[in-house]
Amino acid sequence: MMLRPLRAFRSVARLRRLELNRSDRVLRSAASVADLRRIARRRLPGGVFDYVDGGAEDERSLRANSEAFAAIGFRPRVLAGVHAVNASTTLLGRPLSIPLVLAPTGFTRIVHPDGELAVARAAAAAGVPYALSTLGTRSIEQVAGTSTGRLWFQVYVWRDRGLVQQMVERAEAASYEAIVLTVDTPVLGRRERDIRRGFSIPPSLGIDTLLGGLVHPSWTWAFLASEPIRFENVIGSSVGDGSNPIALAEYTMRQFDSSLSWQDVEWLRSIWPRALVVKGIQTVEDAMIAADAGVEAVALSNHGGRQLDGAPAPLALIAPVVDAVGDRVEVICDGGVRRGSDIVKAVALGARACMSGRAYLYGLGAAGERGVDHVLGLLAADLKRTMALVGASSVDELDRSLLQSIAVRAEVS
Ligand code: FNR
Repeated sequence: MMLRPLRAFRSVARLRRLELNRSDRVLRSAASVADLRRIARRRLPGGVFDYVDGGAEDERSLRANSEAFAAIGFRPRVLAGVHAVNASTTLLGRPLSIPLVLAPTGFTRIVHPDGELAVARAAAAAGVPYALSTLGTRSIEQVAGTSTGRLWFQVYVWRDRGLVQQMVERAEAASYEAIVLTVDTPVLGRRERDIRRGFSIPPSLGIDTLLGGLVHPSWTWAFLASEPIRFENVIGSSVGDGSNPIALAEYTMRQFDSSLSWQDVEWLRSIWPRALVVKGIQTVEDAMIAADAGVEAVALSNHGGRQLDGAPAPLALIAPVVDAVGDRVEVICDGGVRRGSDIVKAVALGARACMSGRAYLYGLGAAGERGVDHVLGLLAADLKRTMALVGASSVDELDRSLLQSIAVRAEVS
């Protein structure tokens, strides 16, 4: 008689294995990118989390990026025989496992000491390209040395064109397959969370940072125990050997050139023999000029809402840009991708692939390389599940007929 409750309990109970590894424990309960963001928020000092998470000024474009995805729903087709969903595609003429590229993000080692090397390895393991930033805290060669996957190098055309040329030549020598020229940064956007937190590059060790470190001991310990963080790609230029990371960072931040123009795109085209992607296109007109300039791809992007507040959500630009230049250039879209279903929406609108920045940084902040692996696993699984649920077996079957806009109910006061 006494055994009956026990038997009833045992019929439904599945005891979980005790997980001793911290990362595994953390990741087991992380079901979404939003969960990893919450974990990263707990683990990172406030200034570092906000550096990743924040946008420019009132963060309207940052929010608009996510809201644009939320405003689009599906028109699922049923009984479509989706037993074998294949989410692979091609980009710049080469295969990738899912339509995703890991976007360039500067200063990545502030999030986790393994920084760009961890992200590059995770991207290679997942079969997607990784774009290393000019402002990377690991060098072109270090990343190429650790990655077996596809690599792109992002450049800002700086005042010191000689330095840019050297970096482009290094990327060519290290077999990077594409240059991503970021064009939405003639001057830096005003990131007000950074100002409030006193966060700066190079990080200034104010009292806030020190107190933040005390409440986030695992991040602080890892930070202090690792090599100094510096802009590895700028070393060897006019600023010297990088032994003074602060001077290096100050020099780097002075390099943004507001005189940047389409002539610089031509110049880059003339010194770089492989694929050229222009990132930061925000109108149909500029997409047409980029296509005329002979670039292979345009990345519709507002820099994740970190530059011009009020810039349009890139998702809304996909259809008009693809209609105007889709037969001449590949169209990539970034900003606000947090789920595989977001990628499905962008591809159904006509994008060849999405780029994603914060999603992998949250994973990196939560649990290092395994956190990035986890994010990429979640996005790929989400993507394939969504394809099955809308009735598409392959990326070619994703088109606008599978989408519909969701009416947003207006607030009436
Ligand atoms: C960026 N981004 C960026 N872009 C670029 O071309 N060069 C860079 O160095 C950086 N640095 C950078 C740092 C951080 C912390 C973030 C979050 C973003 C922009 C990035 O490539 C991409 O456009 C956005 O991240 C896309 O938006 P989501 O995916 O973060 O919403």
